[in-house]
Amino acid sequence: MRRIIALLCLIALLLTIAGCGGERDEMIGVTVYRSDDSFISEVRKSIAAASEGDVPVEILSADNRQQMQNEQIEDFIERGASAIIVNSVDRTASGVIIEKCRRSSVPLVFFNREPVKDDMAKWDKVYYVGARAEESGRMAGGILADCWYANPGMDRNGDGILQFVIIKGETGHQDTELRTEYFTEALMERGIQLEKLHEDTGLWNRDDGRDVMNEFLSYSGDRIEAVFANNDDMALGAIEALKDAGYFTDGRYMPVVGIDATPAGRRALRDGTLLGTVFNDSGNQGRAAYNIAKELAAGRIPTSESIGYEITDDRYVWIPYTTVLRQDA
Ligand code: GAL
Ligand code: CA
Repeated sequence: MRRIIALLCLIALLLTIAGCGGERDEMIGVTVYRSDDSFISEVRKSIAAASEGDVPVEILSADNRQQMQNEQIEDFIERGASAIIVNSVDRTASGVIIEKCRRSSVPLVFFNREPVKDDMAKWDKVYYVGARAEESGRMAGGILADCWYANPGMDRNGDGILQFVIIKGETGHQDTELRTEYFTEALMERGIQLEKLHEDTGLWNRDDGRDVMNEFLSYSGDRIEAVFANNDDMALGAIEALKDAGYFTDGRYMPVVGIDATPAGRRALRDGTLLGTVFNDSGNQGRAAYNIAKELAAGRIPTSESIGYEITDDRYVWIPYTTVLRQDA
């Protein structure tokens, strides 16, 4: 009897040792700036899909609070994450995040919110996956320029000048500033004279986009000849405001251009409300970020061949944008 008890104790002890002392399960931690952003939700889905049958991911949202995101990152590190993927709340906080990860030797991949060069230079196990904001701005401008030349009636007051409004994304975001700048540049390069009636931020979301558009309409009403929103969600909000003001019925039309080509954006293209958008390739951005994180997690230096995406400037992957019109949706 005593021998049996001794044997059982030994087995119990061995099981405990195996449970605690053994290798921790491999995991890649992911934190995104907020959970209710349409484009980011698509990237999340893509990261989750890429991880299926492979190194698992744990995806958290930081509720738009940098402090909370920093804690999530610390927690991932403590729990032995082998790499971390970050869509930062405030891209100027990237330096602090890089420092934390460098001290614990946990490699990092940022996406969508680009750290400044000085921060990227702080450690070589830091990568960035994104899309060139200026490219999307140019494409959005190109869509509107084509519409202008194909439809003389778009110049509603017949003054030869395009009166337009811009609903911008979050202030300080590289996509906000560059999309806005290159959108107007593309139109000017096509020989179109511009008059910007209003611009304001719609913080990337539909409700704010609608409120901002309502305001623009209350100031300028029918003087507005076109709307550019820095993303589809704000464009969709603007379309709601325009519908309330009588547009998109009885032949009243307003050209509205967005960026992202989210599922809701594509539906609006098919409905004929959204004139055009630019595909911000969530699928490839998510897959590239995951593939890089996986290589780094395995202790390897990612190469274009091993991740399946071209790496430029050593540690950047740029996913191209594409124009999407009604017939492509
Ligand atoms: C942009 C995207 C926006 C929003 C933003 C968040 O690239 O077009 O819709 O998701 O990123 O950082
Ligand atoms: Ca005009």
